[in-house]
Amino acid sequence: MTASSPDIADALCSISGCSVALNVPLSGFTTWKTGGPARYMIQVENREALRDVLLRVREAGVETLVLGNGSNVLAADRGFTGAVLRLKGSLSLVDIDGDVLSAGAGASLGAAVQGAARASLSGLEFALGIPGTAGGAVMTNAATRTGSTAGVLREVEVLNVDGDEEKLTSFADAYREPLVPLDNIVTAASFKLDRAEVGAIKARMEEARAKREATQPVGAATAGSVFKNPPGDSAGRLLDACGLKGKSIGAATVSPLHANFIVNVGGAKAADIRALMETMVSEVKDRFGIDLKPEVRLIGFKEER
Ligand code: EPU
Repeated sequence: MTASSPDIADALCSISGCSVALNVPLSGFTTWKTGGPARYMIQVENREALRDVLLRVREAGVETLVLGNGSNVLAADRGFTGAVLRLKGSLSLVDIDGDVLSAGAGASLGAAVQGAARASLSGLEFALGIPGTAGGAVMTNAATRTGSTAGVLREVEVLNVDGDEEKLTSFADAYREPLVPLDNIVTAASFKLDRAEVGAIKARMEEARAKREATQPVGAATAGSVFKNPPGDSAGRLLDACGLKGKSIGAATVSPLHANFIVNVGGAKAADIRALMETMVSEVKDRFGIDLKPEVRLIGFKEER
C-alpha cells in the first residue's frame, strides 16, 4: 500500500461504471478458495471504465491483475497488494452474429458454450465444464483433447500497454500459453464456429461432460490440472505412478480420482497447496527425472510466474 492509496480509491470511485472495495479476501474469488486480501478489488462494467481505471492505477504505480473466474490460480495467504480487476457488465456479454460468437472477456465459457449450442453452432463443445471466462481462455489457451481456444479463435480485442484498443487476428498458438502478449488486457474474443445439428452438438457436449465427470473431481474445490503435461506424457499418469493420490498436506489433498488435481477439502491454506505442489514436483523429478511445470498461475507469492 502506498501513501496515496486512499486517494486512488476515491478517484476510482468517481469513474462511472466502476466500483471499488478495499482489502477483499481472494478466497471468495478463487475456485481453490484460498487467498488473503486484495488491496483493491475493482469491478468494471464497460471499456471506458476499464481504460480510465487502468490509467489511474498505472499512474499510481499500483500493480494490476485481471481475474476471471479464479479457476486457474493459486492466491497467496498474504494476499495481493495491487489492484484486482473483474470485468462485468458489457464486458461479460455473449453475442452471436451468423457463425461468429463474440464474448466479453468476463463472460463465462459455460455461457458461450450453451449460447453456441442454442444457435446450432459447433466448435466450442470442448470447453464444456472448463470453469473459466473467455478472457481466461485466451490467456491460457484453454483446451481439452478434443479442441482448443486457439482452434476456434477469430479475433481478440485488447487494451494494449499504452491503454489503446487493438484488434488482434494472429495468435501465438502454444500448449497452455497466452494467445496474446501477457501485458495486453483482453476485453473480448470472437470465435468462428460451424453450423451443425443441435442434436449432434448436444451429444458432443454430453460426451465431454460424462468423460470429465468420470475422470476429474468435478464440483470439488480445485483449480483444474495443477501441472502442464510434459511433452508426450501426462502429468496425471506420472503423479499417479508415484503413488501420490490421496497424499495430503493440511487440507490440501491430491485427488483420489485424478493425480494432477489438488482438492481443498476444507480450509486449506495456499501454503498447504504450495507445499503439496512442491512434493509432487520433487517426487516426479526423483522417479522419472522430469520437471513438472505448473499450469496454475501464482498470485501474491514472492516469485510469481
Ligand atoms: N492418468 C492416470 N492417473 C491419473 C490421471 C490420469 O494414469 O491419476 C492417465 C489416464 O488414464 C490417461 C492419461 O493419464 O491415460 C491422460 O489423462 P486424462 O485423459 O485425464 O488427461 P490429462 O492429460 O490428465 C488433459 C488436460 C485437462 C483436460 C483433459 C481432457 C492438461 C494438463 N490437462 O488432462 O485439462 O480436461 O486432458 O481433455 O493438459 C486443465 O487444463 O485444467 C484441465 C483439466
